[in-house]
Amino acid sequence: MSFDWTAIEQEAQKEINQASSGEAIEALRIKYLGRQGLLAEITGSISALSASERPEFGKKANYLKNKLTRFLEERVSQLKEKESQDLETFDLTLPGEPIPQIGTRHPITQTIQEITAIFSKLGFVTVEGPEVENEYNNFSGLNIPLDHPSRDAFDTFYLKPETRNQKPVTRKERFLLRSHTSPVQIRVMKEHKPPLAVIVPGKVYRPDAVDASHSFVFHQIEGFLVDQEVSFADLKGTLTAFAQRLFGEKIQMRFRPHFFPFTEPSAEVDISCMLCKRNQKPVTRNQEKKCSVCGGKGWLEILGCGMIHPNVFANVGYPKDKYSGFAFGMGIERIAMLKYGINDIRLFFENDLRFLRQF
Ligand code: DAH
Repeated sequence: MSFDWTAIEQEAQKEINQASSGEAIEALRIKYLGRQGLLAEITGSISALSASERPEFGKKANYLKNKLTRFLEERVSQLKEKESQDLETFDLTLPGEPIPQIGTRHPITQTIQEITAIFSKLGFVTVEGPEVENEYNNFSGLNIPLDHPSRDAFDTFYLKPETRNQKPVTRKERFLLRSHTSPVQIRVMKEHKPPLAVIVPGKVYRPDAVDASHSFVFHQIEGFLVDQEVSFADLKGTLTAFAQRLFGEKIQMRFRPHFFPFTEPSAEVDISCMLCKRNQKPVTRNQEKKCSVCGGKGWLEILGCGMIHPNVFANVGYPKDKYSGFAFGMGIERIAMLKYGINDIRLFFENDLRFLRQF
């Protein structure tokens, strides 16, 4: 039996020097020096030799074993050295690998956070209320009369009363999906005495047919401030500061008299159109064309507001004539649509990633 000892040695050396990891070296150790490896195979064949051939063969096998062992050890220490050199020359100040973005906040969430952040700087705290509300907080407490059209079942989602207890259900016990965030005024004022400055974001529900500008569920932000001697000027100043931060310093505000049962006096607030800007600077010929955002009116309605009605203070048990305050409410989808130039409210609820990834 004869082996090409030199060829085996050279082949093994080449293979070992190409190994680039601890695992690869271990695999080669097993291949050559393992219990069923090449060297074991070679030494196993010694029994086929004559007694005179054996010493020479044994010497060569032993020599090969020592060589392979050394090759493996040398490669291990080469790799270790390379590793520590890599660490020494590694620049820790390099910027990290970017983490792939796997999601973003929904544009409605972003808009809520932006609005609450502005009011937070003005000293308002954020409070949330339940989406299932009782009829008193949603209507009666807010001075909304029994015959008000918004109480109609066509305009509010009423929940079926529990049929287990057979007692007739009073209005106070009836539940509904809140149709606005204003009932949180009642909840907070019942629990806390002024001074209060509160902002309330959340979902509201109305049985409207869905189209480009209506949805049966949408979001509102309610705000209110109660203290002694709060005036309409405080309301105007607060809302102007807010709108200028959200839409830009140059924005103009317009307060139009309006009616809400829970405020007196009440107003609707418009901001000057941020697209055609016709109320921000002299009208040029170009701007006389119909604007796609304001339709050429130059004003965009963004919220309702007013001075909190004395009946509301009475309903929460505040002493007569002691406090005054203002309240306002706005639709978040509408603000987000104006801010980002979105023309269909349904886009917010369809979860189409092609839309959501743009924010
Ligand atoms: N709750 C009203 C709505 O849903 C919005 C609103 C108007 C809230 C005037 C107010 C307010 O607090 O003063 O249409």
